[in-house]
Amino acid sequence: MNKTYFEQVKETAAFIKEKVGEMPHIAIILGTGLGDLVNHIEIKTELDYHDIPNFPVSTVEGHSGKLIFGNLGGKYVMAMQGRFHYYEGYDMKQVTFPVRVMKELGVCTLFVSNASGGMNKEFRVGDVMIITDHINLFPENPLRGKNYEEWGPRFPAMTEAYSKGLIGMADDIAREDGIRLMHGVYVGTPGPTFETPAEYEYFRVIGGDAVGMSTVPEVIVANHAGIRVFGVSVITDLGGKDITEVPTHEEVQKAAVKAQPVMTHIIKRMLERI
Ligand code: HPA
Repeated sequence: MNKTYFEQVKETAAFIKEKVGEMPHIAIILGTGLGDLVNHIEIKTELDYHDIPNFPVSTVEGHSGKLIFGNLGGKYVMAMQGRFHYYEGYDMKQVTFPVRVMKELGVCTLFVSNASGGMNKEFRVGDVMIITDHINLFPENPLRGKNYEEWGPRFPAMTEAYSKGLIGMADDIAREDGIRLMHGVYVGTPGPTFETPAEYEYFRVIGGDAVGMSTVPEVIVANHAGIRVFGVSVITDLGGKDITEVPTHEEVQKAAVKAQPVMTHIIKRMLERI
């Protein structure tokens, strides 16, 4: 008989526990072009997504697909190098499967990063934006369907989807270290098209500062599961009515790679403080 989603999550978590031993309380999901953080982790164990039962396998360029366990900023963490995007064809349950597994392993704090297009007129390419809130424009919610009470409530609040405490900590670090940090609302869209000028404008008008194709599903599930979240977005291109530059995946990756030392620095310093 086919295993239920619930059983698959339990099975995958048991497999990881057996392989890895020590389990972390902190997890990090690395976005497009933002994998460099891994080079700062003192790696203890690595698992290839291919070798983890029930794990989806990442297909996008710039995502290598590994679960990494080790020390960063004096804390034992797990990092996902490569995430699963809705536009790749995964359904929302697959996209958020790793977050369910994280919870099962004992994770209580999640750092998420991504590359995004900026609509806020103050933003420049290469800016790092702390995500203060999001707008879900995916056609589906990962919590649609059967709710497992053990995992969280049927109607979870999303009032503080991004931990105010962690945002404050990032702000303190930025102030101390003289780092330019922006704040804003992340609009999550299914992709894979980048936005038309009218869509960028629309997202700005409804309250968005940056737009991207990830993060929102994982953050919804993390909130449902009682995991506190810190989100950071690297502005890799700008969009709007008057902007004529055409974004490409290569440019997005390049801009992310350039800006990632700032992101890495902030996350590392936050881990030292947590
Ligand atoms: N739109 C959507 N996703 C993105 C963008 C964008 O402009 N830049 C990086 N990811």
